[in-house]
Amino acid sequence: MKIILFGPPGAGKGTQAKLLSEKTGLAHISTGDILRQEVKNNTPLGQEAKGYMESGKLVPDALVTEMTKKRLSAGDLKNGFILDGFPRTEAQAKALDAILDGGIDTAFYLETSEKVVVQRLSGRRVCPTCGVNYHLTNMPPKKDMMCDKCSVALFQRPDDKEETVKNRLSVYLKESSSVLNYYKKQGKLENISGDQDALVVLKIVLKKLPALLKK
Ligand code: AP5
Repeated sequence: MKIILFGPPGAGKGTQAKLLSEKTGLAHISTGDILRQEVKNNTPLGQEAKGYMESGKLVPDALVTEMTKKRLSAGDLKNGFILDGFPRTEAQAKALDAILDGGIDTAFYLETSEKVVVQRLSGRRVCPTCGVNYHLTNMPPKKDMMCDKCSVALFQRPDDKEETVKNRLSVYLKESSSVLNYYKKQGKLENISGDQDALVVLKIVLKKLPALLKK
C-alpha cells in the first residue's frame, strides 16, 4: 500500500503517519525529517536546504525529488509506505508517479483550519533524540518539558516561530490546490477533517484502508 498524507503545516501528518505506521507496519517516510537530519549532519544537501527551511520556503523540487527517489529505492518498503510531506507541488506529484510503477494508492488530505494549524504549531515541542512530537496543551509530556521515553528536554522547531509559520502557510496555499486536483483527477483523493482528535482521524483512515486495498 502506497499512501500519501497531505495537508497544511500542523495538520497532523507526522502524528498520523507515526500512529498508522505502528498499526499497519507500513514504513513512515517524512521528507521534513530526512531534510532536518541532513541539516544536522551538515551534508551538502543539508547545507543547501537549510536556508529554505529556516525561512519557511520549499526546498527546490529537483533536490527533494532526488532525495525521495533514493529513499524509495531502499529495500525496506516491500509492504508499502506512508509518505509524509511529499509531494508538495504538482511537479513533485508527477515525479513520484514516474518513480513508482502504477503511482500511489491513496492521498489522504487532512483538511485543517488555519486557527487549528496556528494553535498546533505554536505549541509543538519535539524530542531532539527520538523526534517524537508533543504539544504544550494537546499532547503534553508527563514530566515538565521532558520526553517521556528519552528524558531529555524538548525544543521548539526553529520553523515553528510565528513569522516562519506565516511563510509556510502562504507557500502551502500557493501550491496545494494543484496537488489536490492532480490526485482528485486520478480518483485517489480522500478528504478527512484534520481538525479532529488524532485518534478519531486515525480511526477514519483505518476504516477506509480495506476498501481502498480492494480498488
Ligand atoms: P515538514 O517537517 O514536512 O513540515 P510541514 O509539512 O510544515 O508539517 P509539520 O511537520 O509542521 O506538521 P504536521 O502536519 O506533520 O503536524 P504534526 O503531526 O507535527 O517540512 C519542513 C520543511 O522542510 C518545509 O517547510 C520545507 O522547507 C522542507 N520540505 C519538506 N518536504 C518538502 C518537499 N516535499 N518539498 C520541498 N520542501 C520540503 O502536528 C503538529 C502539532 O499538533 C504537534 O504538536 C502534535 O502533537 C499536534 N497534533 C497533531 N495532530 C493533532 C490532533 N489531531 N489534535 C490535536 N493536536 C494534534
